[in-house]
Amino acid sequence: MTQAFTPRPLAIAPSILASDFSRLGEEVRAVDAAGADWIHLDVMDGHFVPNISYGPDVIKAMRPHTKKVFDAHLMISPCDPYLEAFAKAGCDHITVHAEAGPHLHRSLQAIRALGKKAGVSLNPGTPIGVLEYVIDLVDLVLVMSVNPGFGGQAFIPSAIGKIRDIRAMTAGRPIDIEVDGGVGPDVAGALAAAGANAFVAGTSVFRGGTQDAYRTNIAAIRNAAAGARGEAI
Ligand code: DX5
Ligand code: ZN
Repeated sequence: MTQAFTPRPLAIAPSILASDFSRLGEEVRAVDAAGADWIHLDVMDGHFVPNISYGPDVIKAMRPHTKKVFDAHLMISPCDPYLEAFAKAGCDHITVHAEAGPHLHRSLQAIRALGKKAGVSLNPGTPIGVLEYVIDLVDLVLVMSVNPGFGGQAFIPSAIGKIRDIRAMTAGRPIDIEVDGGVGPDVAGALAAAGANAFVAGTSVFRGGTQDAYRTNIAAIRNAAAGARGEAI
């Protein structure tokens, strides 16, 4: 039997937003050693979202602490003036919000021109149709399962049906479907079954505060997702 498409690899992406900011380098090394696939970097500007986090200089300082993929999630508006700085800081994926400006197509072109993977993030209230005419420029879709701005919020279940629709829309294309917000082992199985292959997790990874706890927490999410994908652990 031929498979309709090869599933994208499973990736667990701890969000550094939930780490101890006074020990960023150590925390990056700890989640790397604990089994993270990607390091998720939440950039907030106090304008597009009602919170401020960190920018390219702080990401640059984290870069030497791991070789893992740097998965940047820009919750900033405008984003275009800063894309080059995030590329130079060592980000591998650069994801911008569809709602952050009028020129999504231009932003994705600019990210690709910088040699990086281009992502589009959708807020919970944003329909998936915004992806239709930019799909050839998209390497990753980041589905928000909370309203962006803060860690530790409750998962919004409508993300599951949205992911299913995005999977149908992107079938046969090499596009990662990533989910962000309130994700833990309790929902990872349903999300994987719907078509998500990358799982951002802040609170549920950093709970416990030690490398051993991170390892247990990451494994729990991975096991739930892998089980739903029919993959052996
Ligand atoms: C929210 C951020 C998330 C956040 C997730 O605006 O995009 O990445 O850190 O945190 P948890 O996993 O705690 O919901
Ligand atoms: Zn994020």
